[in-house]
Amino acid sequence: MDKFVIRGGNPLLGTVRISGAKNAALPAMAAAILTEEPVILENIPQVRDIETERRLLAAMGAEVELGYGRAHHRTTICCQKLTRAEAGYDLVKTMRASTLVLGPLVARCGVARVSMPGGCAIGARPIDLHIKGLQRLGAEITQEHGYIEARAERLKGNHIAFDKITVTGTEDLLMAAVLAEGETVMENCAREPEVADLAALLIKMGANIEGAGTSTIRVRGVERLHGARHRIIPDRIEAATFIIAGALTGGDLLVSSCAPQHQATLLRKLEEVGVKFHVNGESIRVMGDGPFKAVDMSTEEYPGFATDVQAQYMALATQAEGASVITENIFENRFMHALELVRMGADIKIEGRRAVVRGKTPLSGAAVLASDLRASASLVLAALVADGETIIDRVYHIDRGYEHIEEKLRGVGAQIRRIGEMLPKRAGA
Ligand code: EPZ
Repeated sequence: MDKFVIRGGNPLLGTVRISGAKNAALPAMAAAILTEEPVILENIPQVRDIETERRLLAAMGAEVELGYGRAHHRTTICCQKLTRAEAGYDLVKTMRASTLVLGPLVARCGVARVSMPGGCAIGARPIDLHIKGLQRLGAEITQEHGYIEARAERLKGNHIAFDKITVTGTEDLLMAAVLAEGETVMENCAREPEVADLAALLIKMGANIEGAGTSTIRVRGVERLHGARHRIIPDRIEAATFIIAGALTGGDLLVSSCAPQHQATLLRKLEEVGVKFHVNGESIRVMGDGPFKAVDMSTEEYPGFATDVQAQYMALATQAEGASVITENIFENRFMHALELVRMGADIKIEGRRAVVRGKTPLSGAAVLASDLRASASLVLAALVADGETIIDRVYHIDRGYEHIEEKLRGVGAQIRRIGEMLPKRAGA
């Protein structure tokens, strides 16, 4: 298993370019199931989860061509023939977002068999709302041997009111509704930019959708969809991670191609903390000359403060003067990074869904363990300002969602290298 070795103390200086959004690319790839024609996606990040989704689609009979050379961020998916409407346990267990194929498969093939994802490091994460929504659209659902099977000759439009806001649930049902007969009105939908980006692709494919990006989405089902070409939006979580990194290290960092309109809540919060920044077109320049002030933060659905940036914000809070109360409202167990930050010298107390971070405390390099994608990012940020060397184990979590993070960080002055596990040589080998 790879590890990162990071020596702290260098300010991040220069320009870092933000990649396409993993969480927009995953539903976009699933949307290709809805048509027999090729769907061309640009700005696809080269991260592990995208490779998992490629394997998932290929196992169903899809042709997935990854671009190479200068076109390496382009992917063409053709689902002309789908031989197996199934997402097996082997892939679903490594990536929960595999459940995004449920809606499009049942809409296109009339049947879908998808392994139930189990719990994960950050919470139980059930998919009951995806299932309830599909039932509202007329799918018959059975569940056995760890698999969900959904069947419907043709889905029928209906009214769906989500009990709770769910991002992939909204996306899954949106993809189901576009080929359903008649009109579907979905209420209490997720308003994340990734939902709006998926709708933009579906509209290019011939779908009839209004209101994506707001809490009510109206879909008029069509008989068939066609191929399209679409450019994935920038990754707002990767951008937020670099913005915080620039501030934390006292750097002067230009975060380019980052869709600043998706960062309004983060930037407002950072302004209160005392971080200086300028927005210019598609770039944000961040200057972290401190001092930072503790400011409370609560995660919320978009446009609130993203749960996916909570861990990175906590790393910043360790370097702010005073007590920051961080409340995690989306997932019930998303403070695993806090215990590792404490091992590096942070003063953090967890009380249920609240973490109280008292700063400013010096951080010192230590051996730490990454528990999930964003927790790993938080440890990388802490390591960039820690005294001495930090070794982060299990960085495969970070490889799931950050494209070439160590190269990007090295490019702006960080001392970071990846080391692989050294296996003992076999006798005689
Ligand atoms: C998406 O996950 C993202 N993943 C997550 O990104 C992100 O943390 C999360 O949204 C919240 O913003 C992708 O887009 C691929 P939810 P998702 O359904 O859709 C509960 C990252 O680091 N819920 O919006 O799975 C659920 O348990 C990640 O990139 C139900 O109760 O999250 C949670 O408490 C990890 N029943 C809340 O809703 C359901 O059927 C929100 O989850 C579905 C969800």
